Amino acid sequence: MNIADFDIYKDLLKGNSGLVLTQDKSYLIESRLKPVSKKWGYDDISTMTNILRGVPPKDLVKDIVEAMTTNETSFFRDIKPFEIFKTHVLPYYKNKLGHSKKIRIWCAAAASGQEPYSLAMTIKEEAAKMPGFNFEIVATDISQEILDQAKEGTYSQFEVQRGLPITHLMKYFTQNGDKWTINQDIKNMITYKYFNLLDPMASLGKFDIVFCRNVLIYFDPPTKKDVMERINGQINDDGFFFLGGAETVLGITDVFKGIKDRRGLYAKVNSEHVKAA
Ligand SMILES: C[S@@+](CC[C@H](N)C(=O)[O-])C[C@H]1O[C@@H](n2cnc3c(N)ncnc32)[C@H](O)[C@@H]1O
Repeated sequence: MNIADFDIYKDLLKGNSGLVLTQDKSYLIESRLKPVSKKWGYDDISTMTNILRGVPPKDLVKDIVEAMTTNETSFFRDIKPFEIFKTHVLPYYKNKLGHSKKIRIWCAAAASGQEPYSLAMTIKEEAAKMPGFNFEIVATDISQEILDQAKEGTYSQFEVQRGLPITHLMKYFTQNGDKWTINQDIKNMITYKYFNLLDPMASLGKFDIVFCRNVLIYFDPPTKKDVMERINGQINDDGFFFLGGAETVLGITDVFKGIKDRRGLYAKVNSEHVKAA
């Protein structure tokens, strides 16, 4: 693909999703966008590229963004954040006198649902210790296709073998042939919504806990800063923010600060969690 054509896709992705496409990934355009060009009835990718030079249909742009996202995820990915959620974050709310018992959690790049379901199962396991608490998990993603998979909650043997304890598989899933479907009571704990992190966030409301893991790595530093600072505005003053293992706020923004000895966990810079450290 020549540079001018590559730039069309680079600009489209950056402008519509924040994803940064580097020249070394240009092979992905060919492999991932062939099915999109076929779906839209174009003879080949160059015909589609020419359409993109004009005013392309909004749904074509959506399809291209969706095809170029990386949806890699797994149950209890990197395990530590889920342990911290269980042993540090949930007990904070349990022990905080006078705190609202309604806890809102946002999974901001939920992919095929393993992350929000891992949180829901953890909450279910801890529920007996937190009587009267009510948890709402809002799980969002820019890919409608991946959200539909998440809502369906059906996983292959390979997917359930990645990170999911066997006890949880037995307790919270039902087997259908060689697939496993998460039980309805766990599904009911989650609301799935299409949401682009570049869009205004106010309509989502305020949250106590935000998981935004393994998506900002695909953005450039100014976009990371913008998204993190707007997420900061959606988090209650004593809330928590989780990033992925390869992500940090350092050198990006100072509205969050890492919590000592809790890798991947951040809080608002003026919050009691940071002051107490
Ligand atoms: C690698 S997955 C991470 C999934 C999960 N958070 C985890 O850590 O396992 C990244 C997800 O971010 C989504 N994504 C990419 N750009 C986005 C954007 N601008 N707004 C919302 N979601 C986005 C992708 O569709 C993909 O499902």
